[in-house]
Amino acid sequence: MVPAAVDPGNHSPRARWGGRDYDARVSVTVVDHPLAEHLLAQLRDRTTPPAVFRTLAKRLALALALEAIRDLPTTEVHVETPLEPASGRVLGDLVAVPILRAGLGMLEAVTELFPEVAVGYIGLERDEASLQPQSYYRKLPPVEGRHVLVLDPMLATGGSGSAATAAVKEGRPASIRFVCVVSAPEGIAKMQADHPDVPIFTAALDRQLNEHGYILPGLGDFGDRLFGTE
Ligand code: PRP
Ligand code: URA
Repeated sequence: MVPAAVDPGNHSPRARWGGRDYDARVSVTVVDHPLAEHLLAQLRDRTTPPAVFRTLAKRLALALALEAIRDLPTTEVHVETPLEPASGRVLGDLVAVPILRAGLGMLEAVTELFPEVAVGYIGLERDEASLQPQSYYRKLPPVEGRHVLVLDPMLATGGSGSAATAAVKEGRPASIRFVCVVSAPEGIAKMQADHPDVPIFTAALDRQLNEHGYILPGLGDFGDRLFGTE
């Protein structure tokens, strides 16, 4: 795990990625576990077919989710082992919010890790010309006082991630963590400007966007590759 930027207090230090300077108050964690890198390399490969892509995406989402919840608060519980009383710690209320469609490729990893998780959905689609996210669906459980993982594999311009995060914030959650597979400097900057309180967990910080808003080197259109709609 590489914390690309760590909250350093209130003097607005700079960090540099992808040839740009950033305000380093937004926490960005690059999950660079060898397994995550191994899975990401296969996801990037254009010859990986949708059936394999889905499996790889789920496995990588598991690694990312584990890192994202590393600092979630836990509460003490008392249990009886077959031999004697013992104390343990359990996680509190967790909500997962995949951004449709592509975020669905990350959801199963979270629901398998935490079967008790509540799930909300935010449907956003980028307009191809303006690259602005168009909202077409929203169904969220109560999030007040709960910890939310927003799941979207691609943080490109950051428009979708920022809009989804704003929608979740309306419900006054205890915390939000943004979990993605590949992020562009532009997307990080947008999240930083709009939601400096939301830490980002990503498997890769890529170089830049192309003129169509795709991440370079990226992995192409995640939703199309996941659902075979290319
Ligand atoms: C993709 C991706 C993100 C968004 C990222 O979704 O899954 O939601 O683009 O781009 P942005 O950071 O510039 O907003 P898309 O709009 O292609 O819809 P899909 O998930 O249905 O394929
Ligand atoms: N959405 C994708 O699926 N891929 C990109 O590279 C950018 C946005």
